[in-house]
Amino acid sequence: MSEKAVLVTGACGEIGQALIQNLSAQGGFRIVSADLAPLPDAIMSLVAEHLQGDLVNRVKQFYDYDFDVIYHLAASLSSKAEIATEEAHRINVEGTMQLLMMAAYRSEKYQKEIKFLFPSSIAAYGFPNIEAKKAAGGVKEDEYNTPHTMYGCNKLYCEKLGLYYSRYFGQRHLDEKPPTMLDFRAIRFPGLISAYTLPSGGTSDYGPEMLHAAAQGKPYSCFVREDTKISFMAMPDAIKSLIALTEAPREKLSHVVYNIAAFSLTAGEFRKRALHAFPGQKITFDPVQRRQGIVDSWPEDVDDTLARNEWGWVPDFNADRFFNDYFIPVIKKRYANKPSLRTKE
Ligand code: SER
Repeated sequence: MSEKAVLVTGACGEIGQALIQNLSAQGGFRIVSADLAPLPDAIMSLVAEHLQGDLVNRVKQFYDYDFDVIYHLAASLSSKAEIATEEAHRINVEGTMQLLMMAAYRSEKYQKEIKFLFPSSIAAYGFPNIEAKKAAGGVKEDEYNTPHTMYGCNKLYCEKLGLYYSRYFGQRHLDEKPPTMLDFRAIRFPGLISAYTLPSGGTSDYGPEMLHAAAQGKPYSCFVREDTKISFMAMPDAIKSLIALTEAPREKLSHVVYNIAAFSLTAGEFRKRALHAFPGQKITFDPVQRRQGIVDSWPEDVDDTLARNEWGWVPDFNADRFFNDYFIPVIKKRYANKPSLRTKE
């Protein structure tokens, strides 16, 4: 069987690195990566080609490639996007739009199915206040779609753009097949935690930052309150979900946007578990209002029934398994051998 051509944008980010490692281990893919930065050494040998530079300026280049699957992971995350809103809009929206246009054009011209996988986020939700957040519990995809952040607005809008380019672009009678064969699929990720990399620029970053700091014996001052609760997931589960949604037969999917959930913890519970694994560490809470407000607008948990029913989503790691079987054993080994970890940027 011939290799599938895959494009991974944002390849140097946390999801990008983990996804490239997974695809390469599976085999059968010709991976082209793209990022503003050069590829980290750890994944350099796993890709056939790396296109370095600004996606928006360089998108013309991609028209010459015959991609089967596009993982468009490049983004400016929520905290960073609040500081540089215009830049975030350019990266998050214009970058996505350019890539969608390219994929729609090629899929129509060559009558070829192109899968376009898009990581959306719990930032697409927004609660007016803490009471509403607590009362809502696990939210469904079409509830509280009132994001408070530039990043959340960008993600929600790009979900709609993906739907537009895959279903309606070119306009036909509603009963007719869409002219393009672009197959857009999006996952709304919770906060992700990897034992191998650290995030940068996000607001769920306090979770991974706290755990990595404790594992290295460094003090950590958490920028949200102890009772702050959102949903989190182990990076291997995030990668598993992307692969599973890519492989799901189209006829089984009646939506384009799916929540996925694994476990939901407060920042205080993170501290407790971190101290249990790494006793004696100094973890304090010193909320930063700007970032606290962002996390307070995100759901405590999400309802992932659609993903479970339509493409068989089941996480491997609940909170106990995340700490006991993944994060703690891996991180103990890693920091024992190599005190400084790769970071996203
Ligand atoms: N992890 C992201 C952020 O904090 C949310 O999707 O911005």
